[in-house]
Amino acid sequence: MRVLLKVLGVLVVSACVLAVGGYSYLLLAYPRVGPAPDLRVDATPERIARGRYLADHVAVCTDCHSQRDWTRYAGPLKPETYGAGGEVWDETVGFPGRLVARNITPASLGAWTDGEIVRAFTEGVARDGTPLFPLMPYTTYGQHMAPDDAQAIVAYLRSIPARTQQIADRTLHFPLPLVVRTMPARANTRAVRPDASDRIAYGGYLTNIAGCAECHTPVDARRTPLAHMRLAGGQEFPLPNGLIARSANLTPDATGIGGWTEAQFVEKFKAYADGRAHVPVGASDFNTPMPWQSYAGMTTEDLAAIFAYLQSTPAIRHTVEKVGRRPAATN
Ligand code: HEC
Ligand code: HEC
Repeated sequence: MRVLLKVLGVLVVSACVLAVGGYSYLLLAYPRVGPAPDLRVDATPERIARGRYLADHVAVCTDCHSQRDWTRYAGPLKPETYGAGGEVWDETVGFPGRLVARNITPASLGAWTDGEIVRAFTEGVARDGTPLFPLMPYTTYGQHMAPDDAQAIVAYLRSIPARTQQIADRTLHFPLPLVVRTMPARANTRAVRPDASDRIAYGGYLTNIAGCAECHTPVDARRTPLAHMRLAGGQEFPLPNGLIARSANLTPDATGIGGWTEAQFVEKFKAYADGRAHVPVGASDFNTPMPWQSYAGMTTEDLAAIFAYLQSTPAIRHTVEKVGRRPAATN
């Protein structure tokens, strides 16, 4: 008996040492990115203009980093909150905790270096070393965005009006605080922006940095994207009213957008450019998380390039019901 107790004791102690060791390892070894790159962005008017276009309409930084008016379809931005953060993702939309978009106006990023800002949105680490939650698609930006496009975004963010807004700290349910440390990764500094005359390649670039696949690829129970179903739609977005929005199949199959013309595709987006599609919606109505308003500001040529790219991807048969309903709570 004494021997057994002793063995058990040793096992318990070793388990604790391993747990503490593993925990400290995660804290010390991650996030696994280096110091912020040492760079100084030269803010020419052309750069600022390119940065504005990307931040507002392609990478849609300002869509997440402003608050949205969910009493209207597709949640148009509340202009008075532009760039100041404050939009919340919590359990009402299926998030395991509470995440708040941060203030990215000069009121908050003023003291950050250019390299620290680039590292935050392309590698996922804040100025103070905090690993960021990957709701912001930093891995996608980091793998695909050409460095001069990333720098153009920094030039633009430096030029927007400063807005003061206190942002509440995030809460992440266990084990997310540990998982989130392992997510940041070094950016690909050799990513290139193809020439716009190569429509399919350029459309692919835009599709990547616009994060279309982040939402339009179905995920497994651990929220890992199903690689063989890339862009085939069906990822679920719980809405606070109990409904579910499912992303569309964007592949050229008949169950996707195979039958669409380029003009129809472009018009879908442009309907949100002048506000006419942002009709009022009631609390129990369907709404969409897709940032239609922001993308609507893309040029017709860029939307057409995205369409050309999507039509060149493998056709995947996948019928998606756009509107679903969450099962009633069982407890
Ligand atoms: C899908 C929504 C979303 C998009 C798109 C997005 N972000 Fe974020 N961003 C967030 C959230 C949420 C956080 C806070 C994450 C956290 O607290 O873990 C964040 C954090 C940041 C931070 C860190 C700020 C701080 O004070 O720690 C910066 C900088 C940033 N984003 C810049 C950008 C830029 C630039 C873009 C566009 C290239 C962008 N974001 C696109 C949601 C988004
Ligand atoms: C935040 C998640 C999200 C992002 C990012 C996103 N979508 Fe969507 N998208 C959805 C959801 C959900 C729907 C279904 C509801 C709706 O029609 O808005 C949808 C619907 C669509 C539709 C179908 C419209 C219809 O009437 O059948 C098209 C086309 C589309 N998205 C294209 C894109 C493209 C192209 C991008 C990138 C530029 C993109 N989406 C980015 C979530 C997203």
